Amino acid sequence: MCGIVGYIGNKKASPILINGLLRLEYRGYDSAGIATMEENQIVVMKNKGRVNNLNQLAGINDLKGTLGIAHTRWATHGKPSNENSHPQTDNSNEFAVVHNGIIENYHELREFLKENGYYFVSQTDTEVIPNLIDYYYKKENNLLKAVSMTCKDLKGSFALEILSKYEPDKMIVTRKDSPLVIGKGNGENYIASDIPAILSYTKDFYFLDDNEIVELTNKDVKFYNLDLEPISKQIKVIDWGTSSAEKDGYDDFMLKEINEQPSAIRGTIGAKLDNGNIEFENLNFNKEYLESIKKIYIVACGTAMHAGLVAKTLFEKMCKIPTEVDIASEFRYREPLIDEKTLCIYISQSGETADTIAALKLAKQNNAKTIAISNVIGSSITREADYSIYTHAGPEIAVASTKAYTSQVVLLSVLGIYFAEILERVYNQEIDELKQEILNLPSKIEETLKCCKDIKKFANKVYKETDMFFLGRGTDYAVCLEGSLKLKEISYIHSEGYASGELKHGPIALIENGVTVISVITNSNLVDKTISNVQEVITRGAKVLAITSENLGDLGFDTVIKIPKTNKLISPILSVIPLQFLAYYISKEKGLDVDKPRNLAKSVTVE
Ligand code: F6R
Repeated sequence: MCGIVGYIGNKKASPILINGLLRLEYRGYDSAGIATMEENQIVVMKNKGRVNNLNQLAGINDLKGTLGIAHTRWATHGKPSNENSHPQTDNSNEFAVVHNGIIENYHELREFLKENGYYFVSQTDTEVIPNLIDYYYKKENNLLKAVSMTCKDLKGSFALEILSKYEPDKMIVTRKDSPLVIGKGNGENYIASDIPAILSYTKDFYFLDDNEIVELTNKDVKFYNLDLEPISKQIKVIDWGTSSAEKDGYDDFMLKEINEQPSAIRGTIGAKLDNGNIEFENLNFNKEYLESIKKIYIVACGTAMHAGLVAKTLFEKMCKIPTEVDIASEFRYREPLIDEKTLCIYISQSGETADTIAALKLAKQNNAKTIAISNVIGSSITREADYSIYTHAGPEIAVASTKAYTSQVVLLSVLGIYFAEILERVYNQEIDELKQEILNLPSKIEETLKCCKDIKKFANKVYKETDMFFLGRGTDYAVCLEGSLKLKEISYIHSEGYASGELKHGPIALIENGVTVISVITNSNLVDKTISNVQEVITRGAKVLAITSENLGDLGFDTVIKIPKTNKLISPILSVIPLQFLAYYISKEKGLDVDKPRNLAKSVTVE
């Protein structure tokens, strides 16, 4: 997805912009560009392809401007090309704009502008913006006013950075339904769509809300609403270490993030389970309210939705509340039955996923209480939800989510236990045992990480396969879906996760000699059932990797990965680790770009 970086200060802007774009590469993009203010003239440099190509363009090192905007583009309207890259400018090169999001009424605006003598050189929806600013600037002679009038005409989602040769010491930024943060420095200010792009320069951030317009100079950051009434905003300090956005000696961010899981989970648990009952700083649910809840919805996309699937079992068992897990893009359009007796929990690592945010707004309209679970303090979803709780897993850079998944499952589990303590529908002993198991997780994850060598060997045997199947029951099935997604994403191997009991109802027709099957067997009450399913595939010649905490004996598996035993309600936090390694090592064997898989973006801020 597109990325934005900006700088205004006393230093040369271009290296800061390029450095920021490189840090946003993980989001996925197909072209890149920058614009700087050079002696009151806007100079734009952009091209199709990687940021490193942009950085080699003739003349880029000669840019001296101390104010600039930059962008990595993920093509939506118009193919990846130099003309369609951002920054986009108006016809006279007086205004330059970078834009994340989609302008839904761009066609109508184009026609309006054409009628007023403007022409278009790109196929982008964005090009209407600098031209519309120009149109209003000619009437108002004031950049801030021209931007506010333009924003009122735009329908859709946008995060914008705007430069004008008429007000060369300023930058204007604004957003609606697309993230944008401002990093406050000393006599300088940084702008980005994602915190990691500018984390090495500052830890003091302003998070913009929708329809806020900001006027930036070296020293000042002035906030306005859409009618240009001044508003005030508080700085939030981001406690992520600078090295958390670096590879720290690992080959890839994904490998680093897999290995960071013990510390990430320690961060997630924090002091919540230290002594006595669990407390969440931001939650104050009482027994009366929780007893009134007839249904919990957990809503999210992709890996975050898979984390919800694990938590469903825990919520139903420990809280005795029916819990449904839904894909956000489905939930928002299927008229779900929501009222004030429904509690809706939304999970989003980035906190910026458009579908998840829209699904949250729907619950609010229907009077349900909403909780957002995110990894990014101040992200959009946390500003929409009634309550927000954080995974505190540190920034996740690799596109394929690893530590975010495990930290989401941990946080949901602690949340479920918190509800269970208040509801008193299960024995205290059951609650205490589960709490202890959660506290034991970081050391058990450390133990589990040792499987990497054996998984690497297995990956070496199977990386040329074209199909794989993941089988499990109970929470093992939930983790199979995640293992299968990880494999698809970064190794491009087709795979399916199935509930083992479903095998006979169709998928077994696909099992033939040599097919690779990954079997997850940790739910002790279901071991015998799962094993009999797995034997059916072994009999038909499948090559089976078993991931288990049980003593299975010699049943004809190709490879057995033994992981520590824990409560089945949270066992996916351990069993997912070999699955993450499997996807990782297969991708490496195939020589693929692990951190930046094709066609994928780290945060999906458009529908
Ligand atoms: C998969 C992956 C995606 C995300 C999904 C939701 O590895 O990362 O499936 O989980 O796009 O993203 P967030 O959690 O940011 O809402």
